[in-house]
Amino acid sequence: MDSPELEISTDPSRLDVEMIHAFLATSYWAAGRSREMIDRSIANSIAFGGYVAGRQVAFGRVVTDRAVFGHLADIFVIPEFRGRGISKRLVATMLEHPDVACLPGIQLRTRDAHGLYARFGFARVPNPGELMARYRQMV
Ligand SMILES: CC(C)(COP(=O)(O)OP(=O)(O)OC[C@H]1O[C@@H](n2cnc3c(N)ncnc32)[C@H](O)[C@@H]1OP(=O)(O)O)[C@@H](O)C(=O)NCCC(=O)NCCS
Repeated sequence: MDSPELEISTDPSRLDVEMIHAFLATSYWAAGRSREMIDRSIANSIAFGGYVAGRQVAFGRVVTDRAVFGHLADIFVIPEFRGRGISKRLVATMLEHPDVACLPGIQLRTRDAHGLYARFGFARVPNPGELMARYRQMV
């Protein structure tokens, strides 16, 4: 089923941060992330909300310098609204944003949603040996 009634907005004042916090607390990648960290992450990203009948059902954000590099993060659709194309529309909208569409490089991390992102041209890192990271804690 498609979601023609889906509305996607970058207005941070519309975000249901309680819901975002509650969802991320159950996620495999952000369990333990505090409300304060979520507030700061939204304030310093381009944050996207997906809304059906005024209710927020999806979220994602782009961390970016708006010139060179971007990172897609925290993308989710709440369980009862999955399977109707919402994440595809959300990711497409995120990538079409003018401060994202211009970026020469965009990365993301995923455990199992490679197929979702592959349709937008994402692929496994070509030279993973060149990529380094420092994770103090996975939140
Ligand atoms: C992954 C998630 C965002 C997909 O949202 P959704 O709105 O149900 O997905 P859509 O209906 O837009 O369809 C997603 C497409 O990607 C594919 N896909 C690939 N990996 C997938 C995965 N792990 N989960 C869901 N779909 C996946 C689907 O098969 C579908 O393709 P199709 O239309 O050719 O069948 C959602 O299941 C979710 O929030 N999961 C928990 C959080 C999560 O894992 N987020 C990703 C972190 S990178």
